[in-house]
Amino acid sequence: MGRFFLIGFMGAGKTTVGQELAKKTNSQFYDTDLIIEQRFNKKIAQLFDDLGEVDFRLIEKNIIDEISNFQNVIISTGGGTPCFHDNIYTMLNNGIVIYLEASPETLFKRLENEKLNRPLLRNKSNKELLNFISHSLINRRKFYEKAQIIFNTDDILTKEELILDIDNLITKINNI
Ligand code: S3P
Repeated sequence: MGRFFLIGFMGAGKTTVGQELAKKTNSQFYDTDLIIEQRFNKKIAQLFDDLGEVDFRLIEKNIIDEISNFQNVIISTGGGTPCFHDNIYTMLNNGIVIYLEASPETLFKRLENEKLNRPLLRNKSNKELLNFISHSLINRRKFYEKAQIIFNTDDILTKEELILDIDNLITKINNI
């Protein structure tokens, strides 16, 4: 099946889609945040606190460089991964990049109750959260949209629906 990178904002569904895609395509699934957590034996939020974002982005870059050699893999990345260092080009040069796209409103609904696990969202009110998502998307979209495949997940309301929609994604993959 080759090497596929899932990119997109927090709450886009990268991990859920990645796991399901891996199952359906008999590939190995990797989640870069999880790899980092296991290597450092710390949650991402704790690493952000201990090291700061600059060092976190360097760690993230090293993981992308390393994982870009793995075979037959589906790789879910962190929301910021494609937007720092040259990660988007590393991914584009070494595999198929799939952008899981969703509107700020959809992302807000999915992230509203998930703030604590995510260091960039932790102390935000709901209004600040929606603003943060909208502004970050404006900055990040130019990286995300370099993906070879763009897959919109706005109409997918539950995890179950997301899983059902994987067949449409596989059709898209087979058509490129
Ligand atoms: C981040 C997204 C997170 C994680 C870190 C930073 C970002 O990953 O890498 O909290 O900059 O958007 P998820 O997109 O998997 O939540």
